[in-house]
Amino acid sequence: MKKPWKVTVLTLFPEMFPGPLGQSISGKALGHQWDLETIQIRDFAGDKHKTVDDTSFGGGPGMVIRADVLDKALDSVTDLSGGPLIYLTPRGCPLTQNMVKEFASMPHLTLICGRYEGIDERLLQKRKPLEVSIGDYVLSGGELGAMVLMDACVRVLPGVMGSDASLEEESFQDGLLEYPHYTRPQSWDGQDVPEVLTSGHHEKIRVWRRAQAEKITAERRPDLWAKYVEKKK
Ligand code: ADE
Repeated sequence: MKKPWKVTVLTLFPEMFPGPLGQSISGKALGHQWDLETIQIRDFAGDKHKTVDDTSFGGGPGMVIRADVLDKALDSVTDLSGGPLIYLTPRGCPLTQNMVKEFASMPHLTLICGRYEGIDERLLQKRKPLEVSIGDYVLSGGELGAMVLMDACVRVLPGVMGSDASLEEESFQDGLLEYPHYTRPQSWDGQDVPEVLTSGHHEKIRVWRRAQAEKITAERRPDLWAKYVEKKK
């Protein structure tokens, strides 16, 4: 059998994992389609107090994770060559569905979770991780970002989601947000399901859904809409 997709997470809070990834779709796939390993950065501290951070040279608030400690932790990762080394940081390039698909296609990811003000720049210079952000807001650490990235990857792994068709149809597949969905009852709270959806006419349904996806995208995400229009030309 094929080796499962693997993620190694370096963190000061390994107890946070798998957390929500142990539930639902990703939880069912854990140990089958994917494996998770955590490494406690603190285990690689050299002093008896297990110090991992220090104040920032030049002054200012907050603590910085030491380069030497994190470097030793990275030395302990056995399969670093199986895929990208990623540092979760609000300073990184924004995560997209295309990046997710690429990460999911590689055998192994190594994720570095920062805390405090960040990590010593010299570690980044030496190891050159891909810096990735999950959005323009600041979390208290990289752990939730790592979980977001992993969840998005796991659900596109082969065999994780019921049907590949639902993956192909969903948001972002062709740069549009998803069209609205309805289920039973057909009439609820004075609202009826749009007639076309119960018509059984597949081509009309496809056209209606595409028009809805375009309308929603144009209204909510002018940035995505502009890219879509440009690509269609
Ligand atoms: N760590 C703190 N904030 C973050 C963000 N927005 N994305 C990824 N990692 C982070």
